[in-house]
Order: sequence, then structure tokens, then C-alpha cells
Amino acid sequence: MVHSIKKPVIIDIWNGKGGTAKTTTTYNLAVAMSSEHGKKVLCIDMDGQAGLTRAMGFDPNKFEDKYIGRVLIDTDKDDGEKRVKMADIIITKEIKNKEKISCTIDLAPSKEALYMDEMIINNYNLRESRLKWALDEFEGLSKYDYVLIDCSPNPGQAVNNALMAGDRVIIPVTAEAMALAGLPTTLNGFAKVRKSLNPSIKTLGILCLRYDKRRNLSKEIKDMLSVGFKEIVFDTLIPENVSVAEAPSHGMSVIEYKQYSDGAIAYKSFCNEVLKRMEV
Ligand SMILES: Nc1ncnc2c1ncn2[C@@H]1O[C@H](COP(=O)(O)OP(=O)(O)OP(=O)(O)O)[C@@H](O)[C@H]1O
Ligand SMILES: [Mg+2]
Repeated sequence: MVHSIKKPVIIDIWNGKGGTAKTTTTYNLAVAMSSEHGKKVLCIDMDGQAGLTRAMGFDPNKFEDKYIGRVLIDTDKDDGEKRVKMADIIITKEIKNKEKISCTIDLAPSKEALYMDEMIINNYNLRESRLKWALDEFEGLSKYDYVLIDCSPNPGQAVNNALMAGDRVIIPVTAEAMALAGLPTTLNGFAKVRKSLNPSIKTLGILCLRYDKRRNLSKEIKDMLSVGFKEIVFDTLIPENVSVAEAPSHGMSVIEYKQYSDGAIAYKSFCNEVLKRMEV
């Protein structure tokens, strides 16, 4: 009998616009998946800003060569150095705090040097496939249910590699006019990526964030998203919420920081929707 090896679902959190809560969404979704549903989650920080690495409470400068960029570049051929493997860089965050959350999240961290690595990768043949290869050869991958990739807002090899490796994409959009105006560009960019790099990647959904029910503009944007992208927009709205904004400076997700805040409740509901869509 042939046994197929279980593979996790790889979800990119991506938007070509900066500051749309990609990092916030990646980490909060990971914590909700793990703490509420017992899912085993690996997060990958694919941004030289290392926002996810920091938000999880780690100092990117401490990793030396044990970060995602070194997994992507060849060092073994030219200078005899061994290529760093995915298994070598993964660190575990244990979450156990007074809010009675208990779970672990694994992280493939990033640091600023990833920007340099992206330039090196640019000279390779099949440069967009580096992350996919690294994951394919990673024996420990099968222990995860989900891999969540926090993407950089900048076009480049980090994003291309993330989209090439991904099965699904979540696009976070903030409830502001500029974000909505940029959405067609983001979606066109995604359509091009699908065509040229990874035809099997699908949109899991668009998430509307930083929704402020007191502002008419927020309501208008929510309505426009619901009409224009009815099929894919998530029902959950992530509110503008001070606890969400405060949590990263404590190295925490909002679910760890203030479990009963509106932000935490919304992220848990969003997670339920994500898991439901994955069942279909
Ligand atoms: N629901 C929210 N309520 C209040 N503040 C929020 C909310 N979501 C995100 N923020 C804040 O918005 C800022 C941008 O969020 P984040 O870093 O997650 O965006 P990003 O898309 O990852 O940015 P970049 O494109 O630079 O990687 C952060 O300061 C974050 O704390
Ligand atoms: Mg970010």
C-alpha cells in the first residue's frame, strides 16, 4: 500500500501595499489556530523588516546565519560552506500566560540581511523556487497543519518565493480609501503571479481590517468590498483596536495580550472562517 505523506496547507498573507496588517494577521491567525484549534503552525517571516520575528518577541540580530535568507541562498558550491537547512533555523515560541492561553508556534525568522540575499537569489536560474525546494526537502514539514507566510509589501524575490511556495493567499485590506483604490493593482499583480509562477495558488479571501464602526468611510469601504468581492471577502471585520496595536510591543499577539478584547475576539472568528473555508 502506498502511504502519501501529509503536507500542510501553505498560506501567504500578502498585499503589495505596506501597512495593511499582514504581520499582525499572520501572527494572530497562527495563535488562534494553535490555541483554539490545536493546529500545529509554522510561521515564516519573508520580510527583511523582520516585523513578525519582532512581534513574536525575538531579536532578529541574534540569529547570525540561522534565518530564512540563508536557507534560500547557495553557499555550499562556491565557498565550501554548508547550506543552512530549514530545520536548522526554526525556533519555537511557547505561549503560556495569565490570560490562560497555552500553545506553541514555530517560526522561521528573518533579519535585514534578507534584502541582500534577495539580490543574490536574483542571479539564480529558477530563482522563485528556492523556498519551495527548501520546504520540499524539509522532513519535519509533515508535522505541521499550516504554514503561514508573512510577506513583504515590496516586490522582489522574497515575495515571489512566498507566492511560488503557497497554496492559498489571504489579502488583508485596511478600511481606508487608499487601500481600496490599490486593491485592483494588488489583484492584477496576483493574477500575473498565478499565470507565470504558480497556477495552482488560490485566493482564500480578502480580510477587511481596522474597521471603525463610528466612521462612515469604514462602512462604505466594507460595503464596496462586500459588493465587489462578495465571493471572497471574509464576513469577519477586524476592528480598529488599541489592544491589537499595543500587543506587538509586548512581543505578543492580541490573543495572548488581551484575550477578551474586540480585536482578539475578531481574530478568533476570522480563524474559524479560515478553517471552515479550508474544509470545503
Ligand atoms: N486592528 C488594528 N487596530 C489597530 N492597529 C492595528 C490593527 N492592525 C494593525 N495595526 C497596527 O498597524 C500597524 C501596521 O500593521 P502591520 O505591521 O501588521 O502591517 P504590515 O502590513 O505587516 O506592514 P508592512 O507592509 O510594513 O509589512 C502596526 O503598528 C499595527 O500594530
Ligand atoms: Mg509586515
